[in-house]
Amino acid sequence: QKQRLLIKGGRVVNDDQSVEADVYVEEGVVQEVGPNLNPRPPSGLTVLDATNKLVIPGGIDTHTHLQFPFMGTTSKDDFYTGTKAAVAGGTTMIIDFAIPQKGCSLIEAFDTWKSWADPKVCCDYALHVAVTWWSDEVKEEMKTLVDVKGVNSFKMFMAYKDLYMLSDEELYSAFSYCKELGTIAQVHAENGELIAQNAKKLLAMGITGPEGHALSHSEDVEAEATHRAIAIANTVNCPLFVVHVMSKSSARMITNARNEGKVVYGEPIAAGLGIDGTNYWNEDWAHAAAHVMSPPLSPDPSTPDFLMNLLANDDLSVVGTDNCTFDTCQKALGKDDFTKIPNGLNGVEDRMSVVWEKGVYSGKMDENRFVAVTSTNAAKIFNLYPKKGRIAVGSDADIVIWDPEATRTISAKTHHQANNFNVFEGMVCHGVPVTTISRGKVVYHDGDFNVTAGQGKYVSRPPFPPYVYERVKQRQEVCKPVPVKREPYAGVVSATPESE
Ligand code: URP
Ligand code: ZN
Ligand code: ZN
Ligand code: ZN
Repeated sequence: QKQRLLIKGGRVVNDDQSVEADVYVEEGVVQEVGPNLNPRPPSGLTVLDATNKLVIPGGIDTHTHLQFPFMGTTSKDDFYTGTKAAVAGGTTMIIDFAIPQKGCSLIEAFDTWKSWADPKVCCDYALHVAVTWWSDEVKEEMKTLVDVKGVNSFKMFMAYKDLYMLSDEELYSAFSYCKELGTIAQVHAENGELIAQNAKKLLAMGITGPEGHALSHSEDVEAEATHRAIAIANTVNCPLFVVHVMSKSSARMITNARNEGKVVYGEPIAAGLGIDGTNYWNEDWAHAAAHVMSPPLSPDPSTPDFLMNLLANDDLSVVGTDNCTFDTCQKALGKDDFTKIPNGLNGVEDRMSVVWEKGVYSGKMDENRFVAVTSTNAAKIFNLYPKKGRIAVGSDADIVIWDPEATRTISAKTHHQANNFNVFEGMVCHGVPVTTISRGKVVYHDGDFNVTAGQGKYVSRPPFPPYVYERVKQRQEVCKPVPVKREPYAGVVSATPESE
């Protein structure tokens, strides 16, 4: 028996238009979108009522770290609890990061992460791969990852000195090769050397608590690296995706570069749009430590609004989460030294509601822009579109029935994530996912789950078709230097300068 689903009476919202329409799904794929659909036969058909609701493409979280071995421990949410929480929040696809140690195989990292994810995921997923060192073997492996493993994005770190950080020379080589492969370069933009020096000074001053994390990762640290990454990427004409954009200065660098025609995308994260870094000065150590991530949340309380305005404007492009959860006892690895607090916080479950509340309900963006920044733009940038990121005939039936008026209060007491803290605790959000559908299967409805570990699929992402590089190529033409025509120099040719 074929799996058949009809979503009736809602408003179908894509990034470019909204229409009152029903959606008919067979075997996980959208078959028809239109008014008053009546698929035959009526028997064996699941009908979902979407009256007064929005029918939106399932969210795509461009940035998660599930069961990530990092800073002496492993992030708490694994590929099961993490993706289960995702679907409860209206997200139907995540893109995680396979991250090799320096000197280790990228392909092995990819295979390892995939072997962790495959038996556990409750929704579709893909993997970015990090380039943490540079050599001819790394180049070969990158090519194999693109040709055989469906990877079209590589993350480079400018921070985590001695662990993942690359030099400018290595960044130059990696970005150049990303361009050659038709992939996008992602960058963690923080100056790792400045962080190390700042931290040393602060610890010597007796500042050992989480506020030291914020002070050592100053706004300059992120701004400088963002500017440097843009300069390097632009020098080799590689499209650039700046992950977890947290500060005003960094966001301004990206905005300026885009206005100059450079091909740069910025990814704010749910936490950065919802809360601020004043939390690092909270007198409760566990509360302050729970917010430690890199780059840090901005200590300026007006930053979340500032970032949301840029997101609404298309100066910033997509919202991820950097979901990388650690519970209080894991955070306590750094109780005497803020540099040892595992970096990361939650978001995968709450991203959609936080963006609706702070972006749409606040009047900064409309429902179409909401879909663009939570789903469609991610699908376009990472070459998943229109299979993902759109409700249209032939697209995967990753769909959410969204109640724009209902509210929910975020709390660690009721969330589905594995850790014991939620950085959005107490936030009341308009915009609630009522039903989440993954490849045509209802996986979440009104608080009830129908998920099986491993039901999600790995989604291959081919390198970009040439048209995506149109803007990059145009820039290359405009910027191409030509030699000045001049007579050959006929003066002194001696290699040894005359002595006086
Ligand atoms: O604090 C963070 N961001 N933890 C995860 C690793 C990373 O840099 O994205
Ligand atoms: Zn990062
Ligand atoms: Zn991250
Ligand atoms: Zn624990």
